[in-house]
Amino acid sequence: MEGLIPRIAITSLGKTWQGRRGDVEALRDINLAIGPGEFVAVVGPSGCGKSTLLSVVAGFATPTSGKVLVDGLSVDGPSPERGVMFQDYALFPWRTVADNIGFGPLARGVKRAERLEITQRLVALVGLDGFQDRYPHELSGGMRQRCALARMLANDPAVWLMDEPLAALDPQTRIVMQDELLRIWGDERPADQRRAVLFVTHGIDEAVHLSDRVVVLARRPGRVRAVIEVDLPRPRSALRSSPEAARLVAEIWALIRDEAVDAIREENG
Ligand SMILES: Nc1ncnc2c1ncn2[C@@H]1O[C@H](COP(=O)(O)OP(=O)(O)OP(=O)(O)O)[C@@H](O)[C@H]1O
Ligand SMILES: [Mg+2]
Repeated sequence: MEGLIPRIAITSLGKTWQGRRGDVEALRDINLAIGPGEFVAVVGPSGCGKSTLLSVVAGFATPTSGKVLVDGLSVDGPSPERGVMFQDYALFPWRTVADNIGFGPLARGVKRAERLEITQRLVALVGLDGFQDRYPHELSGGMRQRCALARMLANDPAVWLMDEPLAALDPQTRIVMQDELLRIWGDERPADQRRAVLFVTHGIDEAVHLSDRVVVLARRPGRVRAVIEVDLPRPRSALRSSPEAARLVAEIWALIRDEAVDAIREENG
């Protein structure tokens, strides 16, 4: 990180939601810088503000205080430069796989021939060959998330903002997709060929497996509790259950455990 200009610079960020039952201070004084090619995961108990953080960086929500810069420019709305992918970021059900992937370029006014080229390349990249003409309801959960990933990539965004993108998948598909995501991000390539990623997850093991740093948020209000460096070599696929990874998972879980229990108690009544 040192010496690099951050792709995403979050400074003294606060966000208070005005709800029907009063104000909720979702984030307080968040400071975070994500460098080019850095993969940063955000974990924390339910309701600690992970999705709020991503929404603000995506430009879907405005900060109450502080600021977010992407490539030095203040975020003032969504932009094709910032790709987003959510757990339930529904694909357009009436569009085929190819048309879902090609939607961003179409909206940007990219000509048909180039759109076709982009779509074909991404269909192959995410492993959906032969499924271009299917509709989302004809796909498995894993294939839908492959399609959502390709749709995010279609604008070649400088930063990837992902909110629990794999959470809806069964455990085996999820493991496969974690490694697919790393491959597509560039786990085996030099760091300067990778995009900056901000990745929200409930899965601590997922966070450790994927990321260079894990930001642990505390709740009420959401604050940065700790930042854990994940100093494991890449590519990661063979390190899934290494002792070092397990040690980091235990360290992070120890930071979250008590609050996670509180959060579940509150949600249940
Ligand atoms: N649009 C909104 N309007 C009002 N309050 C909101 C809104 N979005 C989130 N909140 C509140 O802000 C707090 C943080 O919510 P947020 O969804 O960011 O947490 P989270 O960490 O993503 O939770 P989870 O792990 O359950 O996804 C919660 O108290 C939530 O109720
Ligand atoms: Mg959330």
